[in-house]
Amino acid sequence: MSASVLLPRIMEIGAGASRKVTAVLRRLGCQRPLIVTDAMMVQLGYVQQIQAELEKAGFTYGLFSECQPEPAEDSIRAGVGMVRDGEFDAIIALGGGSPIDSAKAIAILGRYGGEMQDYRFPRDVIEEGLPIIAIPTTAGTGSEVTRFTIITDSVSDEKMLCVGQGFMPVAALVDYELTLSLPARVTADTGIDALTHAMEAYVSRKANPYSDTQALQAMALIAPNLRTVYREPGNRQAREAMMLGATLAGIAFSNASVALVHGMSRPIGAHFHVPHGLSNAMLLPEITAYSVPSATTRYATCARIMGVADERDSNSVAVDKLLVELKALNRDLQVPSFVEYGIKEARFFELVELMAEQALASGSPANNPRKPEKAEVVALYRRIWENASACSPV
Ligand SMILES: [Fe+2]
Repeated sequence: MSASVLLPRIMEIGAGASRKVTAVLRRLGCQRPLIVTDAMMVQLGYVQQIQAELEKAGFTYGLFSECQPEPAEDSIRAGVGMVRDGEFDAIIALGGGSPIDSAKAIAILGRYGGEMQDYRFPRDVIEEGLPIIAIPTTAGTGSEVTRFTIITDSVSDEKMLCVGQGFMPVAALVDYELTLSLPARVTADTGIDALTHAMEAYVSRKANPYSDTQALQAMALIAPNLRTVYREPGNRQAREAMMLGATLAGIAFSNASVALVHGMSRPIGAHFHVPHGLSNAMLLPEITAYSVPSATTRYATCARIMGVADERDSNSVAVDKLLVELKALNRDLQVPSFVEYGIKEARFFELVELMAEQALASGSPANNPRKPEKAEVVALYRRIWENASACSPV
């Protein structure tokens, strides 16, 4: 059976890639871009760098810098208005996953109208929005190379997964130099997110030989460098490996899908405002332990490519080592438990049934090697709460 592979048309990868933005605009025949970004990118001076490149090359442009973390529909409305009322022919999406996800929604809503609800999964969004040049500043969500966006419903607080080639950026400028000034917490959270993308893509029921090559290489790049970039933010070699790893992980999961960790992570993020990578990290060890029996060989391969097991280890020893490593990683990267993050027990258990329903409705759990019923998802949420309370990782 063949696999359908979707990628950006142009990828520029390495130090200084973001400075190629005007050359890429010209290659695409675009003349009037809208920069979509957030306040942090303005504060860090990244927006000014892009503006300087555009001005030097004589481009007129617009700026929407009000993207919010974990974007909701309300937060992108003004950006959609700018596209509708302006004459922009491209979007430059600059930032972490949130500005890039926001830009994807703005590109479609700005051209075709409607509400984000109209475009949510299982609809396959094949419409072509404004072309997006994505410049990620984290390593990372991989959003620069995926056909997904996640926008929160402003009324229900539900994170809506939206899927289709309409959300694939036309170009990705992957410049690890932009990650050198990332704070340690963001570095850790986005790095675990990338590792989760690679692992979930590799064990996904939709995995294929192409996504496997990307996922394995991503794990080989991310696993040995994640602790390094957390402790030594200025380590260029480790930052470069993480950035490439995150992009490859993005390619892997865009073409094989994520699975149960992401499915269960989104409701945690939406209801308790936990950053995406952090909620993945909170869930990853326990959900991996749950899933291992259905894909032991694949998880053992993850352990070996991550360097925590070797060829002499049996599969069962290798997966044990993987589970030990995932817990150790959370400890070393100071991932808090639900309680330590400030989630209230009563509220958590009040929402647990709804969260399980929302997790399953997103479609991602169906890709998991071990496919859970609702009762199992509820039990997993409960177990993660109880285990984390019994032995705090921090
Ligand atoms: Fe993710």
